[in-house]
Amino acid sequence: MNTKYKHLSSPITIGSVTVKNRMFMAPMDTGFGNTAYGGFTQAGIDYFVRRAEGGFGLLFSGGTNGDCVVDGCDGILNHPEEFIRQGRELNGRIAEYGAKMFIQLSMNVGRNGGLKTPSPLPTLANPAVTTEALTIEEIHTKIAEMGKAARLVKDAGFAGVDIHAMHWGHLLDSFALSVMNHRDDEYGGSLENRVRVAKEIIEAIRRECGSDFPVTMRLALKSYMKGFNKASFDGSEEVGRTLEEAVEIAKLLESYGYDALSVDAGTLDAFYYAMPPSYVPAGFMLDMTKQVREAVSIPVLCGGRMADPDISEQAIVEGIIDAAVIGRQAIADPDYARLVTEGRTDEIRTCIGCNQGCIWGFFCNGRVSCAVNPEVGHEGEPKLVKAEKSKKVAIVGGGIAGMEAARVATLRGHDVTLYEKSGVLGGNLIPAGAHDFKTEIHQLNDYYKRQMQLLHIDVRMNAEVTPDMFRQSAADTILLATGSVPVMPRSIEGIDKAVSGVDALLGRKPVGQRVIIVGGGLVGCEIAYGYAKEGRDVTIVEALDQILNLGSVPIMNKAMLLDGFEHYGTRILTSTKLKTVLDDGAVVVLPDGTEQMLAADTVIVSIGYRPVPSLREALADSGAEIIEIGDGRQVGNVLTSVKDAYEAACNI
Ligand SMILES: Cc1cc2nc3c(=O)[nH]c(=O)nc-3n(C[C@H](O)[C@H](O)[C@H](O)COP(=O)(O)O)c2cc1C
Ligand code: SF4
Repeated sequence: MNTKYKHLSSPITIGSVTVKNRMFMAPMDTGFGNTAYGGFTQAGIDYFVRRAEGGFGLLFSGGTNGDCVVDGCDGILNHPEEFIRQGRELNGRIAEYGAKMFIQLSMNVGRNGGLKTPSPLPTLANPAVTTEALTIEEIHTKIAEMGKAARLVKDAGFAGVDIHAMHWGHLLDSFALSVMNHRDDEYGGSLENRVRVAKEIIEAIRRECGSDFPVTMRLALKSYMKGFNKASFDGSEEVGRTLEEAVEIAKLLESYGYDALSVDAGTLDAFYYAMPPSYVPAGFMLDMTKQVREAVSIPVLCGGRMADPDISEQAIVEGIIDAAVIGRQAIADPDYARLVTEGRTDEIRTCIGCNQGCIWGFFCNGRVSCAVNPEVGHEGEPKLVKAEKSKKVAIVGGGIAGMEAARVATLRGHDVTLYEKSGVLGGNLIPAGAHDFKTEIHQLNDYYKRQMQLLHIDVRMNAEVTPDMFRQSAADTILLATGSVPVMPRSIEGIDKAVSGVDALLGRKPVGQRVIIVGGGLVGCEIAYGYAKEGRDVTIVEALDQILNLGSVPIMNKAMLLDGFEHYGTRILTSTKLKTVLDDGAVVVLPDGTEQMLAADTVIVSIGYRPVPSLREALADSGAEIIEIGDGRQVGNVLTSVKDAYEAACNI
């Protein structure tokens, strides 16, 4: 063990169970990993085993229905033998790596899924539709079923249960939140009444499983809710849970016998605090967690942007947390915990906090993927296997697609040479990581650069390629990963006075106090957000009728940017077109056709990227097979570039 992260790598006891380290994999549904009733598919078992192999001490499953009577859904209690068989296989295999697993038992998602709630509530999807209230008998049934489900979990060999959850506005959360619970019986009113369900759940579990079966609770320390379907950007307008109330709840949960608290934040109304994009600072939970940890003596496990091992190690040293609960980073790199323990943090493939593949993939496609890890969901059937024949592979372009292809092709046994025209590796990752809220992009670039070194890949910098070069080296395959460049609309009068988004991000051109950003896509909005945060006077000009119009932008990222613009007073002009760029601003055409002069020190144009002209024809007589990948083939993002490069390199 490397001593730098010795606290993170040291054992911890939760109830009767000792876990080998303090890096826990957060509960996360995968879509592909579960059967319809909440058992495990083979792909799900392989996915968890891979994370155990990668060093995580404790794995939490995603939310699993405890009750299937009141909700009338299928659940593990309907398939006990199958669940026990799957559980025993899973637990047997993770035990080989010294890992343990808790099942996250869910009361269900309440109003977030249009299911019954403590009181009638506006549903998340359509606030005009309200939920039905649970009867006392239904509440009792649900509690009893949670106890029986815990018993089944124990019989299947799992080490404990995590109760899902006083967070995200799910059912148990809506009991506890006064804004969602208007009952006047023993389950409503005082705080003790609102958390009574949590008390009765652990009593039911203790009756079924005995006192030595660990039970933890997932608890949001703050809701960040301004109202239903509306987040409080800075948390100052709170109608949900305040930290003060969370501290009181934590004390009650400890008194009921919970063995640990797994803390996070947010509700689906304030989804960007529950699923924080990179705009939310790493370690944002720590100040709140400190107050809870001072109030209780059971372990406090802290989740939400806790993947920086320096932050979590220090937080353990300072007594702020007992363990880090790592979500998306565990998807991005299953070996995270092992690499931390071995002090090899420069080999961690960094999660960039984009939400693109994981939660947005789950919402849009019903299954989790990952922008930086194309192997998610395929752990048991890896495509990255040794090639039958080692080939000479030339890769043109040292951006993310080129480096991913070089990594994968080398691991498959090919002889790879990477040619990069400029003097630096990273391509568009470099401007993309320029903001302080995108530093993970630079870490990802550093990961790739390190991989090039560790795999001894022949990287040629400042290298313009010619067909002759490839004829001489007798390349079998050329992968063109030449990337994309910003679009500058040359037809616009005065366009030379404007600055491209890339030049602004790279600091190649000065940017003044009053800024116009032309283009309200994700890149333009992130540039605008960065300047707005710095206190500059920002106007976004977008030709379409709304900004962040693309379905590929995850809703939580979009909501945070929009709320941020409102908070910082950013002006947004939609259905507005740029006409002329001037020395002191720009002339735009408003939706009604009138022209308006907007004063500004700098006009930044960020209206998208276009592929660099293809080298396919120029290299046609090189004698090699030519494959185009990444932005050079079709402009996309990190997810599409990595996937494209991975697939291509797996097929050489
Ligand atoms: C795809 C996905 C599914 C999730 N499902 C659950 C879940 O079932 N139960 C839960 O408590 N949290 C769930 N979460 C939230 C995570 O446990 C975690 O709190 C969140 O990802 C923030 O932590 P991170 O910054 O380490 O990713 C999910 C997150 C993701 C990305
Ligand atoms: S998709 Fe993005 S946020 Fe999600 S795990 Fe992968 S890198 Fe992280």
